[in-house]
Amino acid sequence: MRDLLPSFPSGFVFGAATASYQIEGAVAEDGRGRSIWDTYSHTPGRTDGGDTGDVACDHYHRYPEDVALLRGLGVGSYRFSLAWPRIQPTGQGPVNPKGLDFYSRLVDELLEAGIEPAATLYHWDLPQALEDRGGWRVRDTAERFAEYAAIAADHLADRVPRWITLNEPWCSAFLGYSVGRHAPGAKEGSGALAAAHHLLVGHGLAMRALRAAGVREAGITLNLDRNLPATHSPADRAAADRADTQHNLVWTEPLLAGRYPVTEADTWGELLTHQDFRRDGDLELIAQPMDFLGINYYRPIVVADAPYRESDPAQRVATDNRYTEQPYGDVRRTAMNWPVVPETFTDLLTSLKETYGDALPPVHITENGSAEHDEIAADGAVHDADRVTYLHDHLTALRAAMDAGVDVRGYYVWSLLDNFEWALGYAKRFGIVHVDYATQQRTPKDSYHWYGRLIAAHQR
Ligand code: FCB
Repeated sequence: MRDLLPSFPSGFVFGAATASYQIEGAVAEDGRGRSIWDTYSHTPGRTDGGDTGDVACDHYHRYPEDVALLRGLGVGSYRFSLAWPRIQPTGQGPVNPKGLDFYSRLVDELLEAGIEPAATLYHWDLPQALEDRGGWRVRDTAERFAEYAAIAADHLADRVPRWITLNEPWCSAFLGYSVGRHAPGAKEGSGALAAAHHLLVGHGLAMRALRAAGVREAGITLNLDRNLPATHSPADRAAADRADTQHNLVWTEPLLAGRYPVTEADTWGELLTHQDFRRDGDLELIAQPMDFLGINYYRPIVVADAPYRESDPAQRVATDNRYTEQPYGDVRRTAMNWPVVPETFTDLLTSLKETYGDALPPVHITENGSAEHDEIAADGAVHDADRVTYLHDHLTALRAAMDAGVDVRGYYVWSLLDNFEWALGYAKRFGIVHVDYATQQRTPKDSYHWYGRLIAAHQR
């Protein structure tokens, strides 16, 4: 247990985060349409244990209780996502008023509790009807996304100060359309690269829609990775550059520097010959100034040089970039088997600042946290000392990056609740509040109380 608390400047925002499909349940209620995650999770063999988000944490019905937990924690802000298929069941056309109404009630409940809402427009639950028309492979989806952004902002901008267009487009594009471990479960080459581009175009169009609706703050959330070479050999360093291109530069270069990564040819080779999805003017659209950059950070990645897994470029997926992931070495691992190396969080942020300088907007850490093997103890509590240490050490690493000159305005712990961890189902618990899925009983863990103390120490 860490007793010495890291300290942050006044005005620093402490928050907690969740996402719609991971917690809401109620997938067939009040006119919600199907999303790609409904389809994916209901396809046999896709998720561990066949888990689905059908019920999840039943947050759709229990949101007042969850807002009370946030109030008890003392957070200044709560990051949640809007489910596009609740608001527009087929991703286009008429609005479903009951869907909007749910978010309107949630926002009011938060404001009454003195908590600032931070809304993510897209945390991966694409309406299935749009996937049936090509999904993010096609530009039309980006245009539909902007329409949806306008609808959401028109209804909520007066009460929601902070807006995030996309959550982790890397996962949408590459886990969804190349690795196949996220919905829609495709394994493609240029289709995934087109998806990456259209997500960025969708972000740019949505930024315009949010501005037009007068939102106070708008930005995007990226899962940036610290990609480290396994050795100092030139080959491993080049491999780390390719990993960096696939994970980070594909987003940060267009968004923050208005260009495509100079390393893209080395990373994607022949796959880049099909670039007809890029249009004149796209870079200007994508590189619009943002009020903040959201960063999700969990762990470093070590990579070594390797041959292509697939020798025929026509069959190659977009994440086949001539490197393999290597174990980090002798450090603690979370229940995700992710290495715990907090100083890499500092390095990620300071190197981002070094690369982009004043073009780097103020940063919000929109997710950070750990999955652990939690159990309810005999005393009825959850003594998640490893998570407390993880949070303490990552907040300390964050503070070090701020001391080194990175302008960080807020931190959202992932996650308020244990929830549906995508393809891994319910077995992985990231919450600072334990959820018993059989009874929907919520039990704040020791980490909840620790985080509450940290927040309270800043209010004195
Ligand atoms: C991030 C996702 C979030 C959750 C955490 C563990 O990639 O944005 O929904 O799954 O990882």
